[in-house]
Amino acid sequence: MVENILDQIDVNKLPNHIAIIMDGNGRWAKKRSLPRVVGHEYGVKSVRLVAETAAKLGVKHLTLYTFSKENWNRPQLEVKAIMTLLVRTIRNEVKTLQKNNIRLKTIGDIDSLPADALRELKEAMELTKNNSRMDLILALNYSARWDIIQATKKIATDVLNKTIDVNEIDEAMISKNLSTSCLPEPELLIRTSGEYRISNFMLWELAYGEFYFTDVFWPEFDQNAFYKAVLDYQKRERRFGKTSEQVK
Ligand code: FPP
Repeated sequence: MVENILDQIDVNKLPNHIAIIMDGNGRWAKKRSLPRVVGHEYGVKSVRLVAETAAKLGVKHLTLYTFSKENWNRPQLEVKAIMTLLVRTIRNEVKTLQKNNIRLKTIGDIDSLPADALRELKEAMELTKNNSRMDLILALNYSARWDIIQATKKIATDVLNKTIDVNEIDEAMISKNLSTSCLPEPELLIRTSGEYRISNFMLWELAYGEFYFTDVFWPEFDQNAFYKAVLDYQKRERRFGKTSEQVK
């Protein structure tokens, strides 16, 4: 089955950047009468599998919405458990990232993360900085509106300091000041677990992104599910405001 779907994928038409809203860990656990945290633990297995699958396929950038600004409002025990899982996962996986030539990056307000998480992340990013097969980007303490606000403040400061003129502000300048400036815009956004929302994720960058929704809970999202999303993307016609005839 996996082979069949894989055979249909055109490796010359892959999205360069895939972003994923990993959702459904809690409901996956609840369905099995397990604590929510166990759902997150199984979610890490999917992270590993999807990162490996994307790299093997030839995707160059994979961004995972791992922890949003809004996620701090969850029960404190769950927040703590996710942070512990983050530290443990990075510590355990950094060798695999190295072996597979994957570079770890982050987007978001990482300086406000707990000190041990920040330290672990910085070490892993430093260690993998010269890897070139794929970028694995974790969105951590991220929200798109936060990013747009901090970019606006930087640009406003430049205007005040007369480094730039207000008329120079354009799309490229805004993109350059976002925490995603090191990345191309995602061509494909995947959201799992049957929710149809963008949840404050890459609002600017997804202006022309293709959205793919699946009912599969994140802990069950496997190679097959990933290939299906890519295949669905490859069937779309991306028009960027033009007509069908113009883009043919
Ligand atoms: C969404 O499911 C999941 C999260 C907000 C946390 C994702 C975190 C991990 C998979 C663990 C750490 C990851 C890495 C990359 C090391 P949910 O809890 O919102 O599920 P629900 O909607 O069913 O409640």
